[in-house]
Amino acid sequence: MNKQTEIDWSNLPFGYYPADYNLRCYYRNGKWGEIEVSSEETLNIHIAATTLHYGQEIFEGLKAFRGADGKIRIFRLEENARRLRESAEGLLMEPVPEDLFREMCIRAVKLNEYLVPPYGSGASLYIRPLEIGLTPRIGVKTADEYLFMVMVTPVGPYFKTGFGCTDICITRQFDRVAPRGTGRFKCGGNYAAALKASEMAHDKGYSAVLFLDPMEKKYLDECGPANFFAVKDGKYITPKSDSILQSITNMSLQTLAKDMGLEVECRHITVDELEECTEAAAIGTAAVASPIGEIDDLDTGKKYIIAKDRKPGPITTALYNKLNDIRYGVEPDTYGWNTIVE
Ligand code: PLP
Ligand code: COI
Repeated sequence: MNKQTEIDWSNLPFGYYPADYNLRCYYRNGKWGEIEVSSEETLNIHIAATTLHYGQEIFEGLKAFRGADGKIRIFRLEENARRLRESAEGLLMEPVPEDLFREMCIRAVKLNEYLVPPYGSGASLYIRPLEIGLTPRIGVKTADEYLFMVMVTPVGPYFKTGFGCTDICITRQFDRVAPRGTGRFKCGGNYAAALKASEMAHDKGYSAVLFLDPMEKKYLDECGPANFFAVKDGKYITPKSDSILQSITNMSLQTLAKDMGLEVECRHITVDELEECTEAAAIGTAAVASPIGEIDDLDTGKKYIIAKDRKPGPITTALYNKLNDIRYGVEPDTYGWNTIVE
């Protein structure tokens, strides 16, 4: 049987699904080696590797889409490559050259092509590049040897509401990152640090925490594993902060919003301003643009009702559709955001 037919694409969760192949490349003796194709789902690494003890681990997340024309497109690969290099610099790891990143992502998609979901299913192939420090160290020090890997897994929506409204909460009880810490880098440690807050939010029925800036706890920062935007006075507003990940989806939506004639403001946004927001969404590769219904401040008890009718607003809907149309090849890719996998 064709392996593809075994998957219920339209009901895929955002989770791990085993792929036939992953790719690996080692950095040893000051250079990157040959790309290795592996069908192993496990790794054999030293018990004292820096990734295990001192968190030298960085990753990326990007997606491949099967278009209306049958072609497979990877969205904004160069931006993910650039951000991985910035994360590497932030954690004193070896930067992965863009060409290596590109070749490994494209090959990982090609080798697992049967896992790229069909057009119209709403699912996509999530590409997860990651880099780890391998050198055994007991003193706190960077590694000399690194492993860069690319694995893929087909995914559905990150929040179970998909493009329906989801509720999130604010709490001052937890910080995701420190004011001048690693928030701008995509390192595993940031996610470990946010687990407790996320679990608290999930236990209370929220899909994510909208973290505040860790210095003053006055301004909105980001929304769990996603950036945040809102619509206020018809403008696209999104937090400016040094402690958040610079989201590629957010960058793309800002461009599309400007193209639609909207004003875009990237600035500090106070919690009180939520009162005047008519739309809001959690945005990212995994979250796409997940509309937000209500934001509850757990410390003050204040509830900000964003979508009174619990329906995605017109601007969020237009942006979501536009973004998807570009990624699925329905609309022309005027900015050259897609890499076609041939
Ligand atoms: N913020 C965090 C903490 C994330 O993990 C992600 C996901 O990558 C984002 C924001 C969104 O970034 P992007 O749009 O580049 O996926
Ligand atoms: C992404 O959107 O790519 C992410 O990395 C978010 C999350 C699944 C960690």
